[in-house]
Amino acid sequence: MTLAEEDSVPQGSLRIPGGLFVVFEGIDGTGKSTQLLLLAEKLRQLGYAVVATCEPTNGPYGRMIRELFVDRDTVSREEELELFIADRKQHVQEVITPALSEGSAVICDRYYLSTIAYQGANGMDPELILEKNENFPIPDLAIILEIEPAQGIHRIQNQRNEHPNTFEKEANLQKVAKIFASMQQDYIMRINGSDSIENVHRRVFEAVAKVLAQKTTQPGDG
Ligand code: ADP
Ligand code: TYD
Repeated sequence: MTLAEEDSVPQGSLRIPGGLFVVFEGIDGTGKSTQLLLLAEKLRQLGYAVVATCEPTNGPYGRMIRELFVDRDTVSREEELELFIADRKQHVQEVITPALSEGSAVICDRYYLSTIAYQGANGMDPELILEKNENFPIPDLAIILEIEPAQGIHRIQNQRNEHPNTFEKEANLQKVAKIFASMQQDYIMRINGSDSIENVHRRVFEAVAKVLAQKTTQPGDG
């Protein structure tokens, strides 16, 4: 089966050996949620079983994290890190690992690179953050969408009609963006998020299709 044969494939019938794990990363307002929805729709049209998810989750730890957005100073930075790790542990156990085992494409809005960037910008040791994340599944592809922090804030305020939360102040986002820019993992792909939604989607899909082709080609094929 190739991507070109998409029209005849019923949704959800194609399984990927070991699943496909794609995460969207980047500062706030880069277009992660927008691109996640477009990618999920595209993969479903191609016939894949897709699980679209996000962190922080809507579970108990995720809800506690969202309360921090109102006032970050109610917990220490160590406690803040522990909340993100507890949320991820539950997310991995209950959603991500089972979906990958079933051969689904799991697409997640934020994952552990966000913890390295945001809790790192908040003064936590990057080595300690990595250590706390080392037992979680490694993504097949992490797409970091890049825009200027001021543009991200502008999008949040003017297009989403929201007020930036305490994580979204420009000086903080500058620090976060710098950490994202320094990451070297070989599964990272950087895409300019200030291009049009359609152009960003095209690049995202090109990158995903490449990884998918590698995953679905069995040794000995071709
Ligand atoms: P994130 O999930 O990264 O915070 P969103 O996907 O919610 O970002 O996008 C933030 C806002 O910017 C939304 O109103 C969205 O419609 C808009 N947006 C997303 N991508 C683009 C783009 N490439 N060009 C212009 N506006 C965009
Ligand atoms: P999110 O809801 O994705 O915000 P947005 O749609 O504006 O990008 O994420 C909420 C906030 O949580 C975001 O400011 C980044 C922060 N965050 C961390 O600080 N550490 C983490 O590990 C994760 C997953 C998110």
